[in-house]
Amino acid sequence: MSDLAQCWINGRLMPGSQASISVFDHGLLYGDGVFEGIRFYQGRAFRLYEHLQRLMDSAAAIRLTVPYTQEALTQAVADILDAFAEPDGYLRLIVTRGVGPLGLNPESCTQPTVILIADRLSMIDDNQRHRGAKAIIASTRRLPADGLDGRIKSLNYLNNILARIEANQAGADEAVLLNQNGYVAEGSADNIFVVRDGHLFTPRHTDGALQGITRGVVMALAADNGIPVAACALTSYDLYTADECFLTGTGAELIPVREVDGRPVRRCPGPVFSLLSCAFSDLIALETQPR
Ligand SMILES: Cc1ncc(COP(=O)(O)O)c(C=O)c1O
Repeated sequence: MSDLAQCWINGRLMPGSQASISVFDHGLLYGDGVFEGIRFYQGRAFRLYEHLQRLMDSAAAIRLTVPYTQEALTQAVADILDAFAEPDGYLRLIVTRGVGPLGLNPESCTQPTVILIADRLSMIDDNQRHRGAKAIIASTRRLPADGLDGRIKSLNYLNNILARIEANQAGADEAVLLNQNGYVAEGSADNIFVVRDGHLFTPRHTDGALQGITRGVVMALAADNGIPVAACALTSYDLYTADECFLTGTGAELIPVREVDGRPVRRCPGPVFSLLSCAFSDLIALETQPR
């Protein structure tokens, strides 16, 4: 947490240092809740509508009623951004099942907890970003959709964290998770793309990829720029033999990958990545112009 952090909890805005929730919150006790990570630039949240839609979908999928409308949450975001001292940063929007007795029955929680945090986010420095990330393919698999559908952005990140521990152990920056069938799903906190012969490919959500907002933006930018793009089944072979490979996410933005399991990626950053990265920055500048 930085000194600048601000929090909004169930309608109350306060400095991050004064924010707290109950130890009986089922978000903490059981990971029972959903969340969004949202970047803001020039005091404006990027793709807020899409993030709120996905939050509502995630909540609906776990039978959690968000006690605020999308309009009310949009206002809460405006309020916290007004209170935050810098124009650029990161928002974490969390909805938990709320406070209840020990025991995981969600019906014992009567009032969901809604939390918004605004703070700085430093994922990686510019140097590292330019050099590209070193990735490994983790032995930890993405949870199968009949266990937890990858489209639900839930508070359960333990298998992603296990994959990330593998990356740390290997001295890598990111772990790629395969699904139960051995197809590439995504990174521990980002989506993955490969370029082959000028075509852009990314795993399908049915293979366990979160329907990332950044992924969607990048696919649209590719199409706008005449780059053929498809969501399809990819294996580790496709990562090992890619002309280019990169990660996308709200936190990550766009990060080129320089190596996968010790195999150097042919071009890092490659021309498709560079084009899309510029187009992405231009889009952010356009969509977040100060009012
Ligand atoms: C597991 C996972 N996949 C992909 C993403 C990228 O999604 P988005 O671009 O919407 O941030 C995230 C971002 O939080 C994530 O946690």
